[in-house]
Amino acid sequence: MNDILLAFDGPQAAEWKSALRSAAGNRAVHAWPDDPDDLSDLDRYAYACVWLPPRGLLPRLRNLKAILNLGAGVDRLLADPSLPDVPIARVAHGDLTMRVTEYVVLHVLMHHRRQRLYDAQQRAKTWAVHDQPAANEVSVGVMGLGVIGRSAAEALARLGFKVAGWSRTPKSIPGIACCHGAEALDAFLARAEILVCLLPQTPETEGLLNLSLLRKLKRDGAAGGAYLVNAARGRIQSNTGILAALDEGALAGATLDVFPQEPLPPDNPLWSHPKVTITPHNAGDVSPHVFAPLVIEQIERFERGVPLDNPIDRSHGY
Ligand code: NAP
Ligand code: GLV
Repeated sequence: MNDILLAFDGPQAAEWKSALRSAAGNRAVHAWPDDPDDLSDLDRYAYACVWLPPRGLLPRLRNLKAILNLGAGVDRLLADPSLPDVPIARVAHGDLTMRVTEYVVLHVLMHHRRQRLYDAQQRAKTWAVHDQPAANEVSVGVMGLGVIGRSAAEALARLGFKVAGWSRTPKSIPGIACCHGAEALDAFLARAEILVCLLPQTPETEGLLNLSLLRKLKRDGAAGGAYLVNAARGRIQSNTGILAALDEGALAGATLDVFPQEPLPPDNPLWSHPKVTITPHNAGDVSPHVFAPLVIEQIERFERGVPLDNPIDRSHGY
């Protein structure tokens, strides 16, 4: 059987079910845990389309051929030690890439144009103009030059920012000063006034955005301080490190879309810090009806013997 089991944990579960069903034609799409009739029925599923599936579910699908992750990050999926040994791919779609790119551009510009300051002035009915550097005087560093990081770096470069990017392996992207590997990190940080994180969460990146790293950012550039935009994963950042960096001046501001614990608990001091902008992990919200046809296309190509796009390398964790 070549049926699809959808296991989606989140508010868009019903929308995903309807979107995959309309894209799948005659192929059955059932949603866990509502649709499968009994446990033996699980043998009919060849494909699992998942977002945060319950631990232990996937090894029960004995005829599973592939897992398609309905988002970019696979950190929670790979954390399941019982994950079956079948190909895993994440579905990368221009819609997701552009939404996160929009988010990054919005928040880099917000810090660059001092919008938090003008918001405060508006509340106080204060009319005051502050010095404004041009984008081409300001250096932005993008951590992660994958599908999304590259798109964001290129969009920022088009706006005129001096953009550098850091990745695990070498890259060559016109207009972006690319560097890679642990040995290049300090020099990359030393030129970055606005640091954008678009890394996956892996054992190498967990906790990377800590106080000691944030202290290495360039504070004396045209931007008038160092800023952080994390639209990647919460466990890459240390909340206490960010708070300490803000309070001692290593950071002048931060935009955080993701947190080690989500939702961010109401008593967390980040909520009310005057230099912090918080969003509820919505940088990359996507429309299932846009995404679903691509998921089905991937499955159909896989059945014709074409390898999955954007395969996950378990040894690297992304
Ligand atoms: P991707 O295509 O897999 O790219 C990951 C990038 O990170 C690659 O450039 C990779 O280097 C680099 N990288 C990985 N480990 C590294 C390390 N140890 N040191 C330096 N660079 C490292 O991923 P993507 O599609 O761009 O997405 C990136 C992440 O954004 C996702 O994993 C997800 O967690 C997050 N995300 C968040 C949202 C949201 O709503 N907030 C939405 C979408 C995605 P190489 O190029 O050398 O492999
Ligand atoms: C969202 O966080 C994603 O990884 O797609």
